[in-house]
Amino acid sequence: MTVDKKAVLVVSFGTSYHDALKSSIESAERDIYEALPDYEPRRAFTSEFIVHKLAKRDGILVDSPVEALARLKDEGFTRVVVQPLHIIPGFEYHEVQNAVIDCEKSRAFQSICLGEPLLYNHDDYSMVVKALEVQLTPNGPGEAVVFMGHGTNHISNASYYRLQRCLDEAGLNAYIANVEGDPSFEAVRNRLHMSGVQRVCLMPFMLVAGDHAKNDMAGGDDSWKGVLEREGFRVDVHMHGLGENEAIRRIYVQKAIKAVNGETAGKGR
Ligand code: CO
Repeated sequence: MTVDKKAVLVVSFGTSYHDALKSSIESAERDIYEALPDYEPRRAFTSEFIVHKLAKRDGILVDSPVEALARLKDEGFTRVVVQPLHIIPGFEYHEVQNAVIDCEKSRAFQSICLGEPLLYNHDDYSMVVKALEVQLTPNGPGEAVVFMGHGTNHISNASYYRLQRCLDEAGLNAYIANVEGDPSFEAVRNRLHMSGVQRVCLMPFMLVAGDHAKNDMAGGDDSWKGVLEREGFRVDVHMHGLGENEAIRRIYVQKAIKAVNGETAGKGR
């Protein structure tokens, strides 16, 4: 009789900031590992740039998803669950999905399953909005929250518009703007001006408060903070990645459990 050797691989974009690594990525990984105690915990990052930077600067070695899966195969693992910490089903999620499909095709494991990114199913949006509400200070009239999303030229960029609609339907004075592409910061700024907002709180809608949050959102004169202040808004900053939000982490945990139970739409056997 062969004994199952099980592993859970948690995949994120990665970060080169040690504080963000600890507070956002490691805490999300830990919650998933704790929910699957029979599974050997493993990590992979999808950003080659960050993997190289960590190796060169700090001597910290992190696998890519393909490398991590090859390692698990070499070590004789039989059941693998892969849970991405990505926000939308964009290019990076599909890269992870392709690595999983390759393992299925080559029968690298007895079973391999893939969890969903944060915004995937219909119900995810209302759950994410509820989770975001936890971190919103009650905003009175004249106050708004602006989330900084990443954005992409992948079709899944539409997820951000759907999230905006859910924020609106929840009656929250909150907007999402992306660093790359639409909805643009400029468009959201116009909405802020038109709605008579005086005070804005900026928050990353990304797993970690990394480069984009520290520089593009809350950096110098050219950052969103700088621009809004110049235009007369009072600006507060919430320098915490989504991985620091326990309710968001709980959604990822549920997705990993769903994947193990084979309830995830799409790939997995
Ligand atoms: Co970027």
